[in-house]
Amino acid sequence: MSNELRIGLAGVGAIGQTHIERINTRLRGGRVVAATDVAAAFGKRIADRYGLEFFETGDALVSSGNIDALIVTAGDDDHEMFVSAAVRAGMPVFCEKPLAPTAAACKRIIDLETAGGKRLVQVGFMRRFDPGYRELKRLVDGGEFGAPLMLHCAHRNFSVGDNYTTPMAITSTLIHEIDVLRWLIGEDYKSVEMAFPKLSKNARPDLIDPQIMILTSVSGVRMDVECHVTNRAGYDIQCEVCCEEGYFKLPDLPSVPRLVNAGRVTPICRDWSERFIEAYNIELQEWMDSTRAGRVDGPNAWDGYAACIAADACQESREKKAVIPVSLPETPAFYK
Ligand SMILES: NC(=O)c1ccc[n+]([C@@H]2O[C@H](COP(=O)([O-])OP(=O)(O)OC[C@H]3O[C@@H](n4cnc5c(N)ncnc54)[C@H](O)[C@@H]3O)[C@@H](O)[C@H]2O)c1
Repeated sequence: MSNELRIGLAGVGAIGQTHIERINTRLRGGRVVAATDVAAAFGKRIADRYGLEFFETGDALVSSGNIDALIVTAGDDDHEMFVSAAVRAGMPVFCEKPLAPTAAACKRIIDLETAGGKRLVQVGFMRRFDPGYRELKRLVDGGEFGAPLMLHCAHRNFSVGDNYTTPMAITSTLIHEIDVLRWLIGEDYKSVEMAFPKLSKNARPDLIDPQIMILTSVSGVRMDVECHVTNRAGYDIQCEVCCEEGYFKLPDLPSVPRLVNAGRVTPICRDWSERFIEAYNIELQEWMDSTRAGRVDGPNAWDGYAACIAADACQESREKKAVIPVSLPETPAFYK
């Protein structure tokens, strides 16, 4: 591996471009040098804009000999294909969340990585790198205020695209909370339940919105998460941890209140790209640092698998209107 990590990126869409920009202009120790995208004309144009070598396929990119590591920012359905190609080549790979859309697909990745005998995969659960969540975890782990008993959370979006479906509320949106809350309290889930308030007039007729996800941990911690993706208000992430002797709340981003039109207005974010900028920067800096040291320090393929097992159970709960048990096998030594 060269001194500076040479990175290839698969899928130069919205988040792919923000990752190229942050790595090539703000972070240290790595550089995106090549890319691929199924939309070739678009992909070439973006590659030219950032001065990247363009490859027509992911296989050509991975086998080119021109990259040391891969970042996967294609759509969810294509993550498995790219991650598997990298793992087969013995190449470190950072895959945006989710690792794959189903637990079965994640298991295939786990089996491949385990057979290769070296951990190579990190999953883009960037909330774990957010300074606010890290402070919450420090307080929970410190134990000074007793054990966490309940968490009240919300994941609110201004709007979503026409291709956003009801299952995506779990696989694409709530998957962030499924991962970060498991990490925050340091426990796996025992059961999940989806609950349904009155539907919003802003949701398309085929989209169930809002939804509430209720997660219960092995020791009985109850975590409710409101998911409301057509709120017409803004992007808002809330997390309150209620412990035996104290309450901790995720801080909002700093925002200057404005006195205007006889009112006090404090703007909030419009979408994800504004809310977690620092988390993405820390996440990718730490990924490059640990990759150069030959390690995976961030959320690994097992975490991606664990999240998808809970997500699959949430889908089943929505369909059956029932509490669904979550059975995650014990973490193998390979992933501890
Ligand atoms: N961590 C986060 O907060 C976060 C935020 C946004 C998106 N994401 C994840 O990032 C991924 C991309 O999201 P996006 O919003 O950038 O989507 P996008 O549609 O803007 O970009 C995806 C790109 O991948 C390309 N692509 C699709 N299939 C491909 C294939 N088989 N081979 C090569 N290129 C292919 C598309 O042409 C497109 O350019 C998704 O998995 C999404 O869940 C994560």
